[in-house]
Amino acid sequence: MAYRWNNNLKDADVTPEKMFMNRRALLAGMAAATVLPSISNAAVETPEPNSWEDITSYNNYYEFGTGKGDPAANAHQLTISPWSVRIDGMVDNPGDFDFNDIVSQMTIEERIYRFRCVEAWSMVVPWNGFELADLLNLAGVKSGAKYVAFETLNRPSEMPGLRYNVLDWPYVEGLRLDEAMHPLTIMATGIYGRDIPKQNGAPMRLVVPWKYGYKSIKSIVRITLTDKEPPTSWNRSQPSEYGFYSNVNPEVDHPRWSQSSERKIGGGLFSKRIPTLMFNGYEDEVAGLYAGMDLEKYH
Ligand code: MTE
Repeated sequence: MAYRWNNNLKDADVTPEKMFMNRRALLAGMAAATVLPSISNAAVETPEPNSWEDITSYNNYYEFGTGKGDPAANAHQLTISPWSVRIDGMVDNPGDFDFNDIVSQMTIEERIYRFRCVEAWSMVVPWNGFELADLLNLAGVKSGAKYVAFETLNRPSEMPGLRYNVLDWPYVEGLRLDEAMHPLTIMATGIYGRDIPKQNGAPMRLVVPWKYGYKSIKSIVRITLTDKEPPTSWNRSQPSEYGFYSNVNPEVDHPRWSQSSERKIGGGLFSKRIPTLMFNGYEDEVAGLYAGMDLEKYH
């Protein structure tokens, strides 16, 4: 078993790594249920993850339509095998990496993260995935690289939403290199131990738990290391509303609504709002990345 970072989160709703799950062990037939109890962590209460149904039916994936139910209705059209990811720019080994080859070299873990959307709803999701840093190290990051740019598949024949100019396609996102290398930043390939559903970004999507959900770009086909801050889809479409950093911050409101509270999906229409935490509850882990920065200016 390998703990990859300190389990020092205090809030019961925000769970760091709960268990380590070796993909090969799973393939060898060891059920997750037999792994779980041996890694009990008395210090941290287990949060209530959202149901599979909530997580897979209420989605944002504009390539399949802008309604929350559109991705679940339309994403079945997407072909995800074969799948390769081009890793290029400032790397030692640029090229097209086959998804299955990547996964076979990665340590797959379960991470239960709170997921906070800019529209002020949230979920708790048991992701399976690997650290983005491990993938970037496979490609070998050259010194001088400062940012990582990500791009989603752009395939109009399978993505009906691409017909509409709601965003500039393909969907693009970016992180600063230190954010990308942070151990909390993962590439998710599964949910609840099952392959990640297409509406959630199969076969591989980013998850950055201290940032608003739109940074979590889905169905990634290209990753580029660069020394310039890359464009991001939402910043390009509405720069006053969406900045490059997009850190969850209850003190910096979206121009059209407050970001100080959230409603966890699944609690019913009248479920109470809960206060949003700085950096979505991961302040101890990530605040240092932004020391000295004006978080209102760099929102
Ligand atoms: N990635 C792509 N390619 N296209 C999108 O429209 N929506 C983003 C993000 N990633 C989006 C995307 C937004 S706004 C959110 S809130 C999350 O995906 C939602 O992830 P989920 O459906 O797994 O909850």
